[in-house]
This record gives sequence, C-alpha cells and structure tokens, in this order.
Amino acid sequence: MTTILRIDASVRRTDNPVAAYNSISRALADSFVEEWKTVDPDVEIILRDVGMTPPDFISNDWIASVFTAEEERTPEQSALVSLSDTLIDELDRSDILLISTPMYNYGMPAALKAWFDQIIRINKTFTFDLARGDFPLEPIMSGKTLVLLTSAGEFGFEDGGIRNDSGHLSAHISTLRKYLGAERMFEAAAEYQEFADERHVASVASAQAQARHIARELA
Ligand SMILES: Cc1cc2nc3c(=O)[nH]c(=O)nc-3n(C[C@H](O)[C@H](O)[C@H](O)COP(=O)(O)O)c2cc1C
Repeated sequence: MTTILRIDASVRRTDNPVAAYNSISRALADSFVEEWKTVDPDVEIILRDVGMTPPDFISNDWIASVFTAEEERTPEQSALVSLSDTLIDELDRSDILLISTPMYNYGMPAALKAWFDQIIRINKTFTFDLARGDFPLEPIMSGKTLVLLTSAGEFGFEDGGIRNDSGHLSAHISTLRKYLGAERMFEAAAEYQEFADERHVASVASAQAQARHIARELA
C-alpha cells in the first residue's frame, strides 16, 4: 500500500464564501489526491496541515535536546523534541511527499520552513561526518518521491522566466528534498493569481491538469 504524506502550507482555506479567496495550492493537492484515489483507492493519506497549525519554531533548548542522546534527555528535553519525532515518523512512513504551498515573499511560508527545521535533524534524517570532507552531511532516508504543487501571484519563476532570479520557492525545496530522501521531484505551478485575468484562469487549469497527470503517472 502506498502512503502519501500531504503537507498543506497555505493559510487560506478552500471554503470561503468568495471563491477568489480560496487557496489555489490546496485545491491542486485536492485534485491530486482525488485523481490518485481513482487509480488506487486504498492509498493511505497522512495529512499535516502546517498552514492551519504551524509547527513550533526551533529554539536554543530544542537544539541542545537534539544533540543530547535520547537516553540522557531530561523529560523537558524529550517533550521539546516530541513534535519533531512525530513529524519525522510521518515522513519515514511515507512513499510520496505531497507539498502544496503558496509562494510568500518569493520563498516558502514560514510555517513550511518551520516544518523543514523540525524534520531535518541529525541522526534522524541525516548523518554528519567530517571524514566525508567538504560534504559531511548524508541523508538517511531514500526512495521517496516529492510532488510540489504551488501557487504564486506573479509569474515567470521557471528556468528562463522573467522572474527566475526570484524563484526561491521551488529551488529551496529542491535543495532540501535530498535530506528527506526524495530522490525524484514532480511539480505543477499555478501563477498570475494577482493579475486575476485570463492568464490566471489558463494557468490554474493547466496546473490542475498537470497535478492530475502526475497523480495518474505515479499511482
Ligand atoms: C504574505 C504573502 C506574500 C506573497 N508573496 C508573493 C511573492 O513574493 N510572489 C508572488 O508571486 N506572489 C506572492 N503572494 C501571492 C500568493 O503567492 C498567491 O496569492 C497564491 O495564490 C497563494 O497561494 P494559495 O492560493 O494557495 O493561498 C503573496 C501572498 C501573501 C499573502
């Protein structure tokens, strides 16, 4: 059975009375899951909604806790890392990591970054060994697939696009995916939300079709 870990990062819901206020990235993820289920109804979905319930930011004490051996942690330190343990366990159980996210300030929302900071953790998702020279970090997990579904207000963030230099959302997540064991990455991006014109309508339709296509290919 395939397990999908779905991370939603938009602060917008999909049930607003005014349809234009609804999250586009969440709708893309809804379509992805719906399409997947037509092929594979038994798929297990783990939902982690960081947009609605942001993970805690890491702290001075959190870092001290993760660098303390598990059996030596105080009860307070164990409590501090328990969310991280849970989030890493969800990732470990998954075959597909489905991230739906808006672009905020040309990168990822703070809540999604908080999730990454909680899970990219020494001896849990990566090992660190200076014997490896200039690249001491190595991922522990492997064999996963990342599907990234995004929405942006502007456009042209793709390779060769007019805002490629500002496209830090996909580029950042693509760098981080190594440490999640995601060896493959598929993407669909809706753009032009702020222009609210026919290009936006076409872009959302195209991203929706792409999300469904990726689901059919992977299921
Ligand atoms: C705080 C904030 C920052 C944003 N920053 C950008 C940005 O840097 N570039 C951009 O193209 N759109 C930006 N947008 C627009 C969103 O990416 C766009 O509204 C997108 O559709 C939001 O995703 P959602 O529909 O899933 O909520 C921003 C929106 C908000 C609320």
